[in-house]
Amino acid sequence: MKLFFAGDIVGEPGRRALRLLLPAMREALRLDVVVANGENSAGGNGITPATAAEIYAAGVDVITTGDHLWDQREVLALLEKEPRFVRPINYPPGTPGRGSTIVQLPGGCLIAVLNVQGRTFMSPMENPFLLAKAEVERLRELTPVILVDMHAEATSEKIALGRMLDGLVSVVVGTHTHVQTADEQVFPGGTAFLTDAGFTGPHESVLGREIEPVLRRFLTGRPERFEVARARVLLQGLLVDIDPATGKALGIRRVSEPLPDGT
Ligand SMILES: [Fe+2]
Ligand SMILES: [Fe+2]
Repeated sequence: MKLFFAGDIVGEPGRRALRLLLPAMREALRLDVVVANGENSAGGNGITPATAAEIYAAGVDVITTGDHLWDQREVLALLEKEPRFVRPINYPPGTPGRGSTIVQLPGGCLIAVLNVQGRTFMSPMENPFLLAKAEVERLRELTPVILVDMHAEATSEKIALGRMLDGLVSVVVGTHTHVQTADEQVFPGGTAFLTDAGFTGPHESVLGREIEPVLRRFLTGRPERFEVARARVLLQGLLVDIDPATGKALGIRRVSEPLPDGT
């Protein structure tokens, strides 16, 4: 089974990269399933039903999120009604939406997607390790093919979660820092791991935002509006080859694909 995961989609350029690159990639690589982090898809801040619809239309099966979940109030409709939309599982009990979902692929195979958020240098949340462990145990009763999006700032927290789940899930991929790491590997137990998938959007930027306002903020300490940048748009993420019978990863490859100039 061939899976592609796209790192945080940032604004219109990120959605455009997905729309223009993903369909051909899906066909050329015979992808069976695509998961993407959409937390920055609406102008860099959060996600709406409209931006989610664009992402699904580009060929994404499941959208994950993170700390920007609440930036747009329309997100509530996605949380309440969209089964292919997940938010970090470790929000307090009673939070709308779901932390995991299972989709059935055309061949009949089931894949589970679990979203978790870290706590180091981030807002307080319930313990991601305890909740991920319990949820993975539950999901494994239903399918061995499981992807975990660990949305976190600290590399140690992401690697530790990956190590904890080695052999129990197919993929653990980090998101949130928007900087793609070069440590892709299959752990001894058969879990594919990458500390951060990077982001899908304009890379002539500071993490997807125009450079100048970010610099001014650092220089003056005053608030600034951070517009989404425009140039050097990349589709970033990772490809994983999975044995659908066991859920073990057979191979992993990082992706950083440029959108041709003028598109
Ligand atoms: Fe984030
Ligand atoms: Fe992000």
